Amino acid sequence: MNKKIIIANWKMNPLSAKEAIKIAKGTDLKGVILCAPTIYLKVIKKVIKKAKLGSQNVSVENPLSGVGAFTGEVSAKMLYDIGSRYTIVGHSERRAMGETNQIINKKIKVLIDTAITPVLCIGEIERDENHEYLNIVKHQIEECLFGLNKNLLSKIIIAYEPVWAIGKNALREATPAEFLEMKIFTKKVLVNIFGDKVEMPAMLYGGSVDEKNTRWFAIDGGADGFLVGRASLDPKKFKEIVKICETLNK
Ligand code: 13P
Repeated sequence: MNKKIIIANWKMNPLSAKEAIKIAKGTDLKGVILCAPTIYLKVIKKVIKKAKLGSQNVSVENPLSGVGAFTGEVSAKMLYDIGSRYTIVGHSERRAMGETNQIINKKIKVLIDTAITPVLCIGEIERDENHEYLNIVKHQIEECLFGLNKNLLSKIIIAYEPVWAIGKNALREATPAEFLEMKIFTKKVLVNIFGDKVEMPAMLYGGSVDEKNTRWFAIDGGADGFLVGRASLDPKKFKEIVKICETLNK
């Protein structure tokens, strides 16, 4: 069995560098990727020994095309330089702020050019009886990966995060069967785009992941790993999730 990939998405937390260092030290585990706010990456890099570093956003501008005037932006090259090797793109919270599939597509290409692994989030806002949500996810995959060389597909990670299952106000928890359905569907969409010989990217589950549901999403849902929000800020819970994944790795 492939090793599970566990990614912490701290979102806009915590409120101080001191607290960030504390969480990083408490979750510095092998096989884990910590996606912290950009401002904390440098201090976290200094204290982690086992975990890898990731970020939550990147500028769409290609840093290799020269220095430009993009106030407030952080380029992929800057992230690489600071030690970040993974970047979350297309998170539903950023999509809600206006990040389109076209922007995400550009970001994925910029990241790959910079040797940073894009973690592409896909997922519908709601489930409808007519299964329109499948079309929404299909379009996300097609448009976000548009023009990508099929040999590069294995260089990205996909995270299925149904918006209705994210956060403390989630409508309900998703089920492993719902994740598995989406994993099979995603594979079908990718084969349609890239052909049947394509190497599949790892597919993670995200949305209220905790120490109680991890095992079932991995075993019954076939998740290749997890994108963890709230529980990643709690070292005790996060360690438990990692421990469960380690037993499954064996
Ligand atoms: P929660 O685990 O807090 O529901 O967040 C999920 C998420 O959005 C991770 O990217």
